[in-house]
Amino acid sequence: MIKKTIVAPSLLSADFSHFADSVAEIEDSGAEWVHFDSMDGHFVPDLTFGPKVVRDLRPQSKAIFDVHLMVERPDTLIDAFIESGADNITFHLESAVHIHRILESVRHAGKGAGISIVPSTPVSFLSELLPFVDLILIMTVDPGYGGQVFIPESIHKIRSVKKMREESTFPFLIAVDGGINESNAALVRDAGADVLITGSAFFKSADKRALVKSLKGE
Ligand code: DX5
Ligand code: ZN
Repeated sequence: MIKKTIVAPSLLSADFSHFADSVAEIEDSGAEWVHFDSMDGHFVPDLTFGPKVVRDLRPQSKAIFDVHLMVERPDTLIDAFIESGADNITFHLESAVHIHRILESVRHAGKGAGISIVPSTPVSFLSELLPFVDLILIMTVDPGYGGQVFIPESIHKIRSVKKMREESTFPFLIAVDGGINESNAALVRDAGADVLITGSAFFKSADKRALVKSLKGE
């Protein structure tokens, strides 16, 4: 089976006064997903946006809307993000205690349920969650800002999660987020990443179609 890599540009690095244009640019580039980084100023220092931005952009695009919650108490926001028209909703393992309940509520709504871990969290913390997730997002920078430098020591975590998937019967996707660019894309793909999230590299690129092809290894 030939595995196609999915590219998910993050609106965090877009011009916030032109989100609709940025979503159109993402669609034109050949990327499949639009990544929404929702930050609350508590789990991470910065603030971005909530479900209204997703809801208002939803009619403008057929792309998969992939929400990454970097918030405390993600359970309080899940229903609003479900109603916003998001396709996937990922939250942080470090931000919640009753994780199964949140994952189940996302799945029950017919959405993809994702869990993310920061660089300092070991992959073994994911082991009880494999049956309940559609996506595991490995952060390769500490979340909070775009434009940070990829932590190469995180590569082994992608390999480990891939191994955990092979040893299980669960078909979740493996996503990687933080400092992804043309110089490390092959490395993370080879380690097992199915979804490459890219913020600053995408929005800085003058030829976004070429960048997306290169990130996919095509
Ligand atoms: C960081 C966010 C990322 C960010 C990636 O906290 O979760 O999605 O947008 O941006 P780059 O690719 O610039 O690291
Ligand atoms: Zn993200």
